[in-house]
Amino acid sequence: MTTAPATTAVSTGSLAGQIVVVIGGSSGIGLETARQARSAGAELILTGRNRARLDRARDEIKALSSATLDLGDAAAIEFFFSGLPADIDHVFVTGGGPPYAGILDLDFDEALRALDEHLLGSLRIARACAPRLQTGGSLTFVTGTHARRPGIGLSIAAIAAVGVPAIVANAAVELAPMRVNAIAAGFVDTPLSARILGDALEGRRAELRATLPIRRVVGPADVAAVAIHLMTNTAVTGATFDVDGGQQLIP
Ligand SMILES: NC(=O)c1ccc[n+]([C@@H]2O[C@H](COP(=O)([O-])OP(=O)(O)OC[C@H]3O[C@@H](n4cnc5c(N)ncnc54)[C@H](OP(=O)(O)O)[C@@H]3O)[C@@H](O)[C@H]2O)c1
Repeated sequence: MTTAPATTAVSTGSLAGQIVVVIGGSSGIGLETARQARSAGAELILTGRNRARLDRARDEIKALSSATLDLGDAAAIEFFFSGLPADIDHVFVTGGGPPYAGILDLDFDEALRALDEHLLGSLRIARACAPRLQTGGSLTFVTGTHARRPGIGLSIAAIAAVGVPAIVANAAVELAPMRVNAIAAGFVDTPLSARILGDALEGRRAELRATLPIRRVVGPADVAAVAIHLMTNTAVTGATFDVDGGQQLIP
């Protein structure tokens, strides 16, 4: 006798009326994710360090609220999450980039700060938001693909790129049913990339257009679209999704 396949609950939901917290929501990937979540009907709570930039983002997307928050400040992370007004549905985390310096030139204080922020900082956020998230809620981090292959100046970025997927897998098991995922991005055309590359930005864009398998440059909207999917697809947890236009596949 054959048995019918088990029916499963619908795995994707809607963001309408849900509360989405975007850490680093005033620029780049975070701001675009906030925009797309808002378009999908979510209420937004945004954070960043620079008040003026945060106010502009809050006004643009008509966010519920905004708060200044430095990811390097462990006490502030606890304080921020414990002070949220009601149960929240999703937390999306971006922030500063790691330092890109060769080992001989590495500023170890700066490296330690970046690693603390990206690694222990991710655990701090997971711990602080877990009691605030509704059942079925999600936590999503952003890390990188570009440092998976060794290169000059990539040591600190590589440690973060290896560490964050391990953190999300462990947190997904420990903190279930809260879902925990990450997006690993390659080059994304954001203000951060513009600051790092300066005059070399246009050249880098042209190189990527010519060499990436997708023949175009990845933008924040590409990453945000996956972020929204990870919030709404309740079947996904403990996973790291690459959004790099195939960058890691080319020499
Ligand atoms: N762009 C890329 O190519 C790329 C590739 C792979 C991974 N990523 C990662 O994606 C994340 C976002 O990058 P992005 O390109 O969107 O950068 P972005 O345009 O500079 O935006 C970063 C956001 O995070 C906030 N932020 C920065 N440092 C912070 C800190 N220490 N504490 C709290 N908030 C902070 C910024 O606001 P304030 O400055 O006002 O605080 C801003 O809202 C970064 O972690 C980066 O490493 C980016």
